[in-house]
Amino acid sequence: MGKLDGKVAVITGAAVGLGAGIAEAFVKHGAKICMINRSARVEETAERLRKQYNAQIITAIADVSNREQVEEAVKKTVDTFGAVHIACCNAGVCQLAPFEQMTDEMFDFHINVNIKGAWNTCKAVIPYMLQQHSGSIVIASSVTGDIVADAGEAAYATTKAALVGLTKCLAVEYAARNIRVNCTQLGYARTPMVEGMAAESNPADPEKAIRDIALGVPMGRLAQPVEVGELTAFLASDEASYITGAQIVIDGGSTLPETMSMGTN
Ligand SMILES: NC(=O)c1ccc[n+]([C@@H]2O[C@H](COP(=O)([O-])OP(=O)(O)OC[C@H]3O[C@@H](n4cnc5c(N)ncnc54)[C@H](O)[C@@H]3O)[C@@H](O)[C@H]2O)c1
Repeated sequence: MGKLDGKVAVITGAAVGLGAGIAEAFVKHGAKICMINRSARVEETAERLRKQYNAQIITAIADVSNREQVEEAVKKTVDTFGAVHIACCNAGVCQLAPFEQMTDEMFDFHINVNIKGAWNTCKAVIPYMLQQHSGSIVIASSVTGDIVADAGEAAYATTKAALVGLTKCLAVEYAARNIRVNCTQLGYARTPMVEGMAAESNPADPEKAIRDIALGVPMGRLAQPVEVGELTAFLASDEASYITGAQIVIDGGSTLPETMSMGTN
């Protein structure tokens, strides 16, 4: 018996990276899922998971910054599987630039995908969740913005911190109507997003930039996407039935050290 047996979930940004890891954990735990992505590449990932887990998966091509496209994807999910119990607002973007070179267009791009994408997904699923008197939403925030930041992340950090606010407000607003809303705060996992950031941070040697991330992590490594998937599956499941409005850090301890030089290690 899987912790997500009988549940139907939509997962945004599911083609690659963490979204693919979340999709894998969800089907492993028995969920039927709709993998939403702006690119058609999501169908390749879905086909791999269907074969590997004999899973019930549909895909929908949608840009999360476009409300109508997200609503259409959620409707397709309900038409196919009869309900939507879980939404994972995972799709996100990150472009680095020094603040004085960061354009308003770049800022708007982050707001539209990272904040409005989650907003649109919540808007699309909550009416169905209210009708069925239950639901669970998991939003991909980050340690970036709310807890830490690196130079060049002003737009990204702003949007990821904002998602904590969205999580808390929706959690309190819908608690009595049995819709739980939580967010995950990941440190670093190796994904196409992080490979892109590494190339921007150290164009001469992006692999070094990725290796060096691990030096600042007490566990000495980056997260695997499926580890984030497991946390998301737990928060989405009935096992987390008394958890709402929580922000759960998953970072291998990266936000713990006070210094890189003091202490007995
Ligand atoms: N990778 C990390 O270390 C890390 C750390 C903290 C938080 N996060 C967050 O986790 C989420 C996923 O990150 P990732 O590293 O897997 O990113 P990624 O860039 O590797 O993958 C993102 C996926 O989302 C899709 N996507 C992007 N914009 C979209 C849009 N407008 N509409 C629909 N789909 C869209 C992409 O096509 C891609 O499939 C993001 O919200 C990110 O901010 C990532």
